[in-house]
Amino acid sequence: MADAWQKVMDHAVAIARKAGEVVREALSHDRSVMTKSSDVDLVTQTDQKVERLIIQSVKEKFPTHRFIGEESVAAGDTCVLTEDPTWIIDPIDGTTNFVHAFPFIAISIGFSVNRQVEFGVVYSCLEDKMFTARRGKGAFCNGESLQVSEQTDVHRSIIATEFGSNRDPEAVDRIFCSLNNILSLPVHGVRGAGTAAINMCLVACGCIEAYYEIGIHVWDVAAGSLIVLEAGGVLMDIDGGDVDLMSRRIVAANNRKIAESIINEISAFSPTRDDAPPPDN
Ligand code: IPD
Repeated sequence: MADAWQKVMDHAVAIARKAGEVVREALSHDRSVMTKSSDVDLVTQTDQKVERLIIQSVKEKFPTHRFIGEESVAAGDTCVLTEDPTWIIDPIDGTTNFVHAFPFIAISIGFSVNRQVEFGVVYSCLEDKMFTARRGKGAFCNGESLQVSEQTDVHRSIIATEFGSNRDPEAVDRIFCSLNNILSLPVHGVRGAGTAAINMCLVACGCIEAYYEIGIHVWDVAAGSLIVLEAGGVLMDIDGGDVDLMSRRIVAANNRKIAESIINEISAFSPTRDDAPPPDN
């Protein structure tokens, strides 16, 4: 079965590259925007088109595989991870960046079997960087092996986070409380690329020591999670326990010491899980 997954991964890389071409092309002429759960939760026709393109091409090659896609879930599909081979797709991670032509945009494709991510592909399509990882076989960018930073002192670290699209006042207060605590440690700097997937790849590359966020979705982090692990990093929940990709909370770091230093400063909250049943009307 191992070789079979390699073929699937090769297809994921090819389709991510093709999707990247569509995104690059659309960037120059088609950025009209719609909203989803709130005025700041954005979607474009390109997100929808790219997701259709990926799903269609996978269905032709691997008709039994399942999907969890950001825009399909927004349109009403369920978001439940089973043991079946499942493609977890974010057609444009960094939709807000896309709308504003802020130059970090990724196509993120995770592939899970038995609820475990088997491979991850993140294509940073404006930088033309193809990040890949296969479980047990390392992480790569354009074929070069990746290794997380060796830093163990949080005071000498760069930490990435994002503000997401939750503007509930209590959540915003907690986000700023965490940021205040982390800046005041102090750390060398706080950054955010505007895409969870690229932030995680930056951890894998060793450019930053950690990335954390509350409010992300499984499609934002499925691929990046394996890329971080295979580059030698760690994943944890915001409360220090094991990460749960459906929980919408993640800490991805170069090592446990840095992860725990960050976790100590985070004011936690728990958004509705991705796999929560829809509310009764
Ligand atoms: C978003 C980006 C953003 C993060 C949000 C995500 P999208 O994904 O990753 O950086 O802050 O939580 O939802 O909507 O651009 O696919």
